[in-house]
Amino acid sequence: MPLLEVENLSIDLGDFHLRDVSLSVEENDYLTIIGPTGAGKSVLLEAIAGFYPLLKGRVILEGKDITREPPERRGMSIVYQDYVLFPHMTVFENIAFGLRKKGLVRAEIEREVRHIAEELHIDHLLHRKPGTLSGGEQQRTALARALVVRPRVLLMDEPFSALDSKTREKLRSLVRNVIDEYGTTVLHVTHDFEDVFALAKHVAVMRDGRIVQFGTPEEVFSRPADEFIADFVRTNLLRGEVVGKEGELTAVRVGNVILYTADDAEGKVTLSIRPEDIILAREPGECSAQNVVPVLIESLEKRGHLVWLSLSSEGVPLSAVVTPNAAELLGIKPGEKFYAMFKASALRVIK
Ligand SMILES: Nc1ncnc2c1ncn2[C@@H]1O[C@H](COP(=O)(O)OP(=O)(O)O)[C@@H](O)[C@H]1O
Ligand SMILES: [Mg+2]
Repeated sequence: MPLLEVENLSIDLGDFHLRDVSLSVEENDYLTIIGPTGAGKSVLLEAIAGFYPLLKGRVILEGKDITREPPERRGMSIVYQDYVLFPHMTVFENIAFGLRKKGLVRAEIEREVRHIAEELHIDHLLHRKPGTLSGGEQQRTALARALVVRPRVLLMDEPFSALDSKTREKLRSLVRNVIDEYGTTVLHVTHDFEDVFALAKHVAVMRDGRIVQFGTPEEVFSRPADEFIADFVRTNLLRGEVVGKEGELTAVRVGNVILYTADDAEGKVTLSIRPEDIILAREPGECSAQNVVPVLIESLEKRGHLVWLSLSSEGVPLSAVVTPNAAELLGIKPGEKFYAMFKASALRVIK
């Protein structure tokens, strides 16, 4: 039995509708919810938490229908982007808040607060007021406050968005450890794909109030269900036609080149190749990749800690991604000619 089931959740907010959203989340699952701004990710999370009246649908937790339960009786905690701590209370009091409401005795409160504070490396801050903490420390406090009550489900709405990338990375690894230890099931809304790769077991993609794809990160990022999702997860789409089989591989003509995929297919196909699965080299030389395509570097753009490249292979556009170091070592510049190489197993047939 799944831990959390959401069935046909529908909400009417006037201009915005959540439309028949269904989800099934196993115990200990880590589901990230992605999608463009305004897709309804926050509304979905808050609907699961019980903050919106439903047009229809049900929320079932451990087999029990909780659709009509108020938020505080759902066994869920929610963490937002902007920490929302009580400013006049110490970190200790902030974390202890939910335990006091539950009526735990002093010694238990003390033990539970210290334990989660140690897990999240904020045990040295317990006497401080939130206003004196860094963003990362405040968010760790908010996480501690959410987790200390041992929720059945932890809901997080862009929890790392306000933090710098180094702090985000540190928080991800802390979250992963603490989630494992507490056995918490997580629904995490994010626009940062790093969160997906670092944390998620499953991904739901939302668009216009609907879930348009659900799967593992590998499925969603390598086999997007349609062009909108492919574009959103920044994979390359190539259109071609199957021209034959060579052993285990399927040969596909894309423009003037023949590419090989490990997937089975016939007729006209759409293929996906992830930018990070493309290797660039000056010479086609030694490489286990079955696909070797001459490309022209069109442009470079530094985004975060990586360099995104726009390439073209006889007019077919491709994006690839390299580290700044690799870009410099290889002398990647607009107008230069390279070979793009990728494995047949990385070229996936999506349609
Ligand atoms: N309480 C509300 N009343 C009316 N419209 C709302 C309310 N909350 C959100 N919306 C609208 O619902 C849509 C989805 O919002 P939201 O879930 O916040 O998107 P996101 O995917 O960016 O988190 C937006 O168009 C937003 O303006
Ligand atoms: Mg949102």
